[in-house]
Amino acid sequence: MLILGIESSCDETSVAVVKDGREVLSNVINSQIAIHERFGGVVPEIASRNHVEAISTVTKKALEKAGVKIEQIDAIACTYGPGLVGALLVGVSYAKALSFALDRPLIGTNHIQGHIAANYISHKELKPPFLCLIISGGHTHLVHIKDYNSFEVLGKTRDDAIGEAFDKVARVIGLGYPGGPKVDKLAKEGEPNIILPKTHFDNLDFSFSGIKTSVINLHHKTPDVNKADLCASFEKTVTDILIDNTLKAAKQLNINTVALAGGVSANSYIRRRFLELKDTNNLKVYYPEPILCTDNAAMIGSAAYYNFLNNEISDLELNAIPNLKLN
Ligand code: KG4
Ligand code: ZN
Repeated sequence: MLILGIESSCDETSVAVVKDGREVLSNVINSQIAIHERFGGVVPEIASRNHVEAISTVTKKALEKAGVKIEQIDAIACTYGPGLVGALLVGVSYAKALSFALDRPLIGTNHIQGHIAANYISHKELKPPFLCLIISGGHTHLVHIKDYNSFEVLGKTRDDAIGEAFDKVARVIGLGYPGGPKVDKLAKEGEPNIILPKTHFDNLDFSFSGIKTSVINLHHKTPDVNKADLCASFEKTVTDILIDNTLKAAKQLNINTVALAGGVSANSYIRRRFLELKDTNNLKVYYPEPILCTDNAAMIGSAAYYNFLNNEISDLELNAIPNLKLN
């Protein structure tokens, strides 16, 4: 089954052709990072306009790269939430038009479910049940993946998403946008020798605003603090928090498979620390290849395949839902 996946929830216009949920024939990503860089973050209205300008060209390229004619596509999938409403509406409207014109099923897909599914593309052997830690610019969710379409959110952030904290720390210490990859790089030159506060809850929720504020205050009060040490300490502290909750959940549910997903799962330090859990805690850890960590349409095509198998088909009333939940 060939699915055309469309992703436009934030600042990437992406279209992919995915076969049977796991094989990517093409995955074209048109990033707007350079456009938003000078504003220090994504400007929603500018993002929507650029999606409108890019989406037809990106779709044509995706079909060309896959060597597939549009008539060969069996279903059209799009992200319908969560995300920026104007940005989502571009992908949703485009997908609806294609579905109507080609008379193919429309499969509205949850963006977070897409991030989880990125692991199915990178790891053909991965099957539910497992734990998934979705760490991105908009989300920090610890989820029990009971089946392809059955999720239980075990914990989530009570304030900032982890990616937001990375981006804010980077901006304050002058590394620019998007900050995650820049903090990742600079941290390699530093030592995690600065103690930062960790917030813990009785349940499996997360909090990152305290640590973010403390890095910002430290930078302002002691301007000569070593930035590389600050980045390394920030990374170590947030990773400790992620690992504490993941181990708690693994023990509670007696599950020993964990998948990472989302933009922040591209972080080299986080990956390394999680991989070490194989030896120390007998946890099998998966993460997608870097291009599938950040927003892309292949993950939407993959998730949509499992929605289709589960009879979750949308109609032309499908609308963008900016705060769409996972279940
Ligand atoms: O998944 P994503 O592309 O978009 C959302 O759905 O939010 O995630 C973007 C986030 C940004 O906050 C970016 O700074 C972060 O992922 N990110 C990283 C790295 N690469 C991207 N954070 C830490 N280390 C990285 N290497
Ligand atoms: Zn995302």
